Amino acid sequence: MKHLTSLLDLTPDELQQVLNRAQELKQELRRGHRPQLFPGHVLVQLFEKPSLRTRNSFEAAMIHLGGAGIFQTTAEAGLNGRESLADVARVISSFADIITMRTFSQQLIEDFAAYSSCPVINGLSDDRHPCQALTDLLTIREHCGRLQGLHLVFVGDGNNVSMSLALAAAMTGMRLTLAAPVGFEFTSQFMSLLTQRYPQHQTAVVHDPLQAVRTADIIYTDVWASMGQESDAERRRQAFVGYQVNGTLMQAAPASALFMHDLPAKRGLEVTDEVMDSPRSIVFDQAENRLHLAKGLFAWLLDHSR
Ligand code: CP
Ligand code: NVA
Repeated sequence: MKHLTSLLDLTPDELQQVLNRAQELKQELRRGHRPQLFPGHVLVQLFEKPSLRTRNSFEAAMIHLGGAGIFQTTAEAGLNGRESLADVARVISSFADIITMRTFSQQLIEDFAAYSSCPVINGLSDDRHPCQALTDLLTIREHCGRLQGLHLVFVGDGNNVSMSLALAAAMTGMRLTLAAPVGFEFTSQFMSLLTQRYPQHQTAVVHDPLQAVRTADIIYTDVWASMGQESDAERRRQAFVGYQVNGTLMQAAPASALFMHDLPAKRGLEVTDEVMDSPRSIVFDQAENRLHLAKGLFAWLLDHSR
């Protein structure tokens, strides 16, 4: 049984297979085809946090492939203590062909997957966002024609999105620099894990965004306060002054450098309207690619879990 609780569930070769499958299905859709690869298949989504892109792209993907989706909050499903996690996982996976989850706890998704009889996909936890990172690779490959050797500079928090991007970069030969304020870098546990699994990684952590972007092919940012950190938002807003992606920062980068954001964006905080709406911004290509990546991932997981 294959799951995607983290990018570490894939080998670099399998990661490329998922990207290629997504690309094929995107091209099919451009030709007006929605291959009904999984008629009658059921996606069950269990979410603990809000979502626009993840929830809707997953459900649309399953509909495109011939199936349908069911959505429940984790509390409604009984993951609030009504029933044991193992029992919920056994029951839902007896109805579902694929389960997606969005939770605070990364461990919860991994524990759930251990009891599930169908593939479980992480649709974001506090520590990982693997489907976003896979989508970002797909988007970068489309715009730059390759991944290996590119320099991605993430200006912002050492959070779920940037940690998954660092894993993605290590698995594809990209260089990743995190430019973060003191106290918001990658944890030492994450850096140890990265080094243990991908000793050849090219991930660096710095504190000067203007210097970091000088050699950037891609400048990426995300919110300063993630879901669940709302009460810390003001302290973070002060800590991240100087880490906004704005016209001045983009001017310090090569003219060919692109701008990315997983969205939702807090316009005026981590990024300005000027950058979000500029020709160098590919944020809405990223958002669209969530659909294509979800289709490719579902197809790859179902093909490899039969
Ligand atoms: N990028 C992303 O995961 O968006 P949502 O939170 O809207 O799903
Ligand atoms: N880091 C953000 C990503 C949202 C898609 C969060 O966890 O809220």
